[in-house]
Amino acid sequence: LPPLRIGIAGLGTVGAGVIRLLRENREGISARAGRTIEVVAVCARDRTRDRGIDLSGIRWHDDAASLAADPDLDVVVELIGGAEGAAREAVEGALSRGTPVVSANKALLALHGASLSALSARHEAPLLFEAAVAGGVPAIKLVREGLAGDRLLRVGGILNGTCNYILTTMRETGRAFGDVLADAQALGYAEADPSTDVDGWDAAHKLAILAALSFGRPVAFETLHVEGIRDIQPADLHFADELGFRIKLLGLAREGEAGLEAWMRPCLVPKAAPIAGVEGVFNALLVEGEFAGSQMIEGRGAGAGPTAVAVVADLIDLARGARLPVWGVAQTCTPARCVERGQLS
Ligand code: HSE
Repeated sequence: LPPLRIGIAGLGTVGAGVIRLLRENREGISARAGRTIEVVAVCARDRTRDRGIDLSGIRWHDDAASLAADPDLDVVVELIGGAEGAAREAVEGALSRGTPVVSANKALLALHGASLSALSARHEAPLLFEAAVAGGVPAIKLVREGLAGDRLLRVGGILNGTCNYILTTMRETGRAFGDVLADAQALGYAEADPSTDVDGWDAAHKLAILAALSFGRPVAFETLHVEGIRDIQPADLHFADELGFRIKLLGLAREGEAGLEAWMRPCLVPKAAPIAGVEGVFNALLVEGEFAGSQMIEGRGAGAGPTAVAVVADLIDLARGARLPVWGVAQTCTPARCVERGQLS
């Protein structure tokens, strides 16, 4: 098979990590993909920054819109972030041209997943986003593929590495919130605007995506109840510990009698509960199905290596010719009918 030619929009922690992973594990990835994966084009806001990787021989585009329109690409990889602006234009532009997209953009999927799903179906261009949820934990694959035969009842867990790292480190060291947040930023865990992490929005975006996949329909993001960890003090963590608890930023979504119930907020968890032992940058996905029962998987939820592995998993799927619908549910209605049914705005 010919190489899979990809273009990467955004060369931050994750973008540089993807290029490094594709180089350092080239043989293993080619063997699994059945062909090589070549980065042929990139774009980034700052072209001159030293990212510690050799970018010679790779075509530079002035912006993401231009990269998304590059006719030489088999896949556009969107690693810019943000629900609007350059990221949204690049993803919509590529899908509209029939070019498959891999994205790590949880805000974009959480807020515009329904319309992007319709666009993907209309142009028969896959949109894959394993890296949008829980970094290196294969959360999307578990819900969309592993449990595809089950009827899912509940989904949630610890979905933000920055917050879990802050809560763990504050408890262990007694250091102040702002100080530990600065560490999380230096380690490449936090978002460009870290209030997205600490106010709970990033984890809530991921929960909305998991809920849409689990229950097979779009989720109105504004219906989620969201609280963050900004006001938690080292003393709160200390007293919780003395009483036998950990404080965790936890989210849960389930289909209630009145429709979807979903929330993201700091919770007291008994120390003996398995999720209490998920510490540092680790995330945990909890899912309960009617037939498979409950399970929890955990792993690194942020950072260059884990997130790059998730992006490359999607690239390998595309290299193999996988046809995976956006929400794991075949999109059979035409966009006009979706509008009629109120599934699209
Ligand atoms: N800022 C995110 C986190 C990155 O800390 O979990 C991974 O989505």
